[in-house]
Amino acid sequence: MSTCTLSRRGSEAPASPIRALGSLAAQAEDRGLVVHYLNIGQPDIQTPEVINEAYRRYQDEVLAYAPSDGFRNYRRELAAWYGARPGIQRPVDAEDIVVTTGGSEALLFALAAVTDPGDEILVCEPYYTNYAGYAHMLGVEVSPVTTYPKEQYAIDPDRIEAAITGKTRAIVLPTPGNPTGSVISAEHLERIAEICAAKDVFFICDEVYREFVYEDCYGPRAPSLLDQPAADELGIVIDSVSKRYSACGARIGWIVTRNQEIREAVLRFGQARLSPATVDQYAAMAALEVPESWFEEVKAEYKARRDVLVAGLRRIGLDAPTPEGAFYLAIALPVEDADTFCRWMLTDFDLNGETMCMAPLAGFYQTAGLGKNEVRMAYVLEQQILERCVDILEAALAAWND
Ligand SMILES: Cc1ncc(COP(=O)(O)O)c(C=O)c1O
Repeated sequence: MSTCTLSRRGSEAPASPIRALGSLAAQAEDRGLVVHYLNIGQPDIQTPEVINEAYRRYQDEVLAYAPSDGFRNYRRELAAWYGARPGIQRPVDAEDIVVTTGGSEALLFALAAVTDPGDEILVCEPYYTNYAGYAHMLGVEVSPVTTYPKEQYAIDPDRIEAAITGKTRAIVLPTPGNPTGSVISAEHLERIAEICAAKDVFFICDEVYREFVYEDCYGPRAPSLLDQPAADELGIVIDSVSKRYSACGARIGWIVTRNQEIREAVLRFGQARLSPATVDQYAAMAALEVPESWFEEVKAEYKARRDVLVAGLRRIGLDAPTPEGAFYLAIALPVEDADTFCRWMLTDFDLNGETMCMAPLAGFYQTAGLGKNEVRMAYVLEQQILERCVDILEAALAAWND
């Protein structure tokens, strides 16, 4: 028998808490139940026809590699697109962009460009857990600044500043946030960028949900780090087509940075994996034609879903925060252990043949013991289904606490 063993990197890689209950949900379906999936950020919004049409139109005779940093005309059009859309005031150059395989690869490359093994990155917990996955691959520690349900999970720059140590190499923050929906105001982005500049720390700002912001005080888009001159040297913006166009399978993302050293490092990583997908870039290029009215409609739909879910959760007596953006809601439930409760909802509970799958939030915290009674719900399903989910949750909580 072979005595080969996996690396610690391989054997100890964290599993995603977002997908953890998937097999129990599949078993529930096998038993004939209807399962509503609120655990995963897979929108049901129809992908714009112009994107699907671009896939159908593709007919090159040789399916060739693309340049490692993406097609030049795509980067040019993307740079122009930033300027033509509401929300971004300062110009973006095609040379500031490297196209990647989704925002996920952009995050991995950005982290790899600015950290060495043993370094630390700062996150605000609860946080998008894949940051922990990338940090693990790179041998980097994750250091958390806790945000709290009773404060609507607001991010406080002073707490971030206080948490920076000599080992901190980068702060990684999504805005709008996953799993909390928190949006970072322009003032706070500026303040965090200034803190980073003063402390020689990079700021990786994950803006893949930028379109989905529901409070008028922020304007039509969530504020972007690209508009903060203080971040020109140390800022890396992560972007993606996945959520923006409900095109998660296209696997096109990119980094934007005005720091050419970072860009060159990311490009070298890009050369090692050769190329982002060719056909998906054509589709992503077509996506740039999606009109502003499409975003307005989709945003209105998500806002309505948010409102239905928040109102429903409050109706059944839960202290639901009002997420300002993205399409997630993190909430504390009146249970001791949300993980056990969520599992039980899939193995032993149904309301008239229906149940639901949520993501227990403990796995989104770095600090052991936090988030035990919290869950994340993705409001990516239709409003009537969300209303039914509230009824299902109410009945499940009543049965569980009986
Ligand atoms: C905060 C955040 N960043 C990045 C991503 C990566 O998305 P993708 O790789 O599909 O572009 C996701 C996906 O859920 C996300 O929630």
